[in-house]
Amino acid sequence: MNQPREQWASKLGFILAAAGSAIGLGNIWKFPYVAGENGGAAFIIIYLICILVIGLPVLISEILIGRTTQSNPVGAFRALGKNKFWISIGAMGVIAGFIILSFYSVVGGWSLGYIIEASSGVFSNFSDGNAANAHFVSLIGNPVWIISLHALFMTISVAIVLGGVQKGIEKGSKFLMPLLFIIMIVLVLRGLTLEGAEKGLDFILNPRWDQISAETVLVALGQAFFTLSLGMGAMLTYGSYISDSDNIFASGVQIVFLDTLIALLAGVAIFTAVFATGQNPGSGPGLIFQTLPLVFTKMPGGYLFSILFFLLLTIAAITSSISLLEVVVAYFVDDKGWSRKNAVLVFGGIIFILGIPCALSFNILSDFTLLGLTWFDMSDYVTSNLMLPLGGFFIAIFVAYFWGYQRALPNLRNGAEILFEKYSWIITAWKIFLKYFSPVMILLVLLHSLGVF
Ligand code: TRP
Repeated sequence: MNQPREQWASKLGFILAAAGSAIGLGNIWKFPYVAGENGGAAFIIIYLICILVIGLPVLISEILIGRTTQSNPVGAFRALGKNKFWISIGAMGVIAGFIILSFYSVVGGWSLGYIIEASSGVFSNFSDGNAANAHFVSLIGNPVWIISLHALFMTISVAIVLGGVQKGIEKGSKFLMPLLFIIMIVLVLRGLTLEGAEKGLDFILNPRWDQISAETVLVALGQAFFTLSLGMGAMLTYGSYISDSDNIFASGVQIVFLDTLIALLAGVAIFTAVFATGQNPGSGPGLIFQTLPLVFTKMPGGYLFSILFFLLLTIAAITSSISLLEVVVAYFVDDKGWSRKNAVLVFGGIIFILGIPCALSFNILSDFTLLGLTWFDMSDYVTSNLMLPLGGFFIAIFVAYFWGYQRALPNLRNGAEILFEKYSWIITAWKIFLKYFSPVMILLVLLHSLGVF
């Protein structure tokens, strides 16, 4: 317990680790199909507004709470909130970390498995969309395939988090994130140089306002939350390892910028290729695992690009999963005095076990449903639609009303003196967004998820 708490070795290390948390399946798997289904650029514009008005202010709040308290979510709310209610908000974050990682790792496992499939050349001989679909269905229908890859994915995450903040998470991010950017650029260039790529560009860059409804705004906001890893203290935990010389505002902007950039580039890379090969862009969640393999079959150089694509997806998923695991580990290390090694191994193991029913939701347990949702769907629904918005709502309320700007601002000022002196309107905007816009908008999303309207 008496060891000094770890810190990031450098500012860049923090930015890359936090961007690594943010950039994940949400950007590469979810964002493109959601944007495609909801009006293309019209959705993107609404999404960008949600990111700026709600995502960024909450992100800054999480990092600020973390840096001020130098603690995990539970310890942070105990130190500042001083009552059981706020502590339970922190605890909800730790529990959400468990649950999200249990299903996230299953999908991360598919991605790993698809690197193997791609390398074996399976994707070069699909005759049509049905063959690609059938291949996916048969893979996830196989409990051994799905569980062993989930185990492999968890093992990689555990190995990185075992190394600690500097030697594990930071070092891993400093290697993996640049690799992710390079692969992304290669894939975008490939997409753009395909014949017929302009139709794909048109699909995401041309705003179709007629496809926008009130629902779209809620979807955009939910996506903004998930993609920035908000609402459960992941950014809070990463923020607890930064120093007082860091500018939290600038860091927040950089993290948001990188996250948005990668989501947009993923959209470009995917839709240029989908349109150039004449495939259906509207296959929803199946876009990546069902439509893309067929795209690779038809695309010049598809063998190489399919391997690169699933490598990219896997890297994105790993840098996110380590942030989820770190929240749980930080709690047991800070609060319960566990050694990092024991915390990582024990809770990595428990999350693996919790992931097994998620994995079996696609085969043996597919009929085992509650309210029509399988265990996997339920884990996703309860966290993404309930716990994260609820957590985000209370984080905004906490900083704006309970802790209060008077007590919060001195720490925010550290490292951001110039902003406070020369551009104080930015701080004012942050205060207003967090106090009035964020709670109201997040509450609407929550009520919508609960089916109230
Ligand atoms: N942001 C990641 C993605 O886009 C997922 C993620 C990692 C996450 N950590 C999180 C989501 C914490 C919510 C909360 O895929």
